[in-house]
Amino acid sequence: MFNFLKTFFKKDVNIKNTVELLKTDLHSHLIPGIDDGAQNLEESEILILELLHLGFQKLITTPHINVNFPNTPDIIQRNFESLQNYLISKQISFNIDFAAEYMLDEGFSNHLNKGLLSFGKQKFVLIETFHHIKPDRFQAIIFDIQMKGFKPVLAHPERYLYLWNVKEKYFELKEQGLYFQLNLNSLSGYYTEKPKNIAKFLLKNKLVDFLGSDTHHTKHLEMLQKSLTDEQIMSYLESGKILNQTL
Ligand SMILES: [Fe+2]
Repeated sequence: MFNFLKTFFKKDVNIKNTVELLKTDLHSHLIPGIDDGAQNLEESEILILELLHLGFQKLITTPHINVNFPNTPDIIQRNFESLQNYLISKQISFNIDFAAEYMLDEGFSNHLNKGLLSFGKQKFVLIETFHHIKPDRFQAIIFDIQMKGFKPVLAHPERYLYLWNVKEKYFELKEQGLYFQLNLNSLSGYYTEKPKNIAKFLLKNKLVDFLGSDTHHTKHLEMLQKSLTDEQIMSYLESGKILNQTL
């Protein structure tokens, strides 16, 4: 029994230490009803309180912008303000801000021309691609984003099938100035074994710039408890390569 408590306590301390070093989570879907994340204010509240409980000091939530969820900065801002008002009414005070997760689909160039939602002083923009198909003009689009003064951050690079067998592509994309945001839950195998192995490969090769929870629902948070105890994460954080805490 004593050993069990000792292990449990150690695990809890590890999670707190890791989250303290991270400080900010920059990838989640917490604004209710506008994408496949939280569907109502109560669900948002549960997710936010749980992230707070894990020890995050700041959240930058990132609703999808794609053909299925045709959000605009105005829609996101309006719904974000409703969420903020709800949190105030519940006396939950928390440092929370928003950006977006842009899919590089046929609508993206239009968003780029109108102005992207970014985060941090360096104007980071979170982007994703379809999992199976490499987008047309991938590197040209990255260049276009950079030319508008933004720093593109690829969400969960470990999850794209078209990159798995061409690992040198990861180095090429990094050389082009693309930042990588790993999903913490990839490390505990939440997205199956292959993304887990690629996540470990990316950490081993010091290619990761940001870590994110990509929280959509409570299952992600349950898994996060396990992912945050990963030893590779802790040593990577101590190496000072992660930029979360600068946001
Ligand atoms: Fe996401």
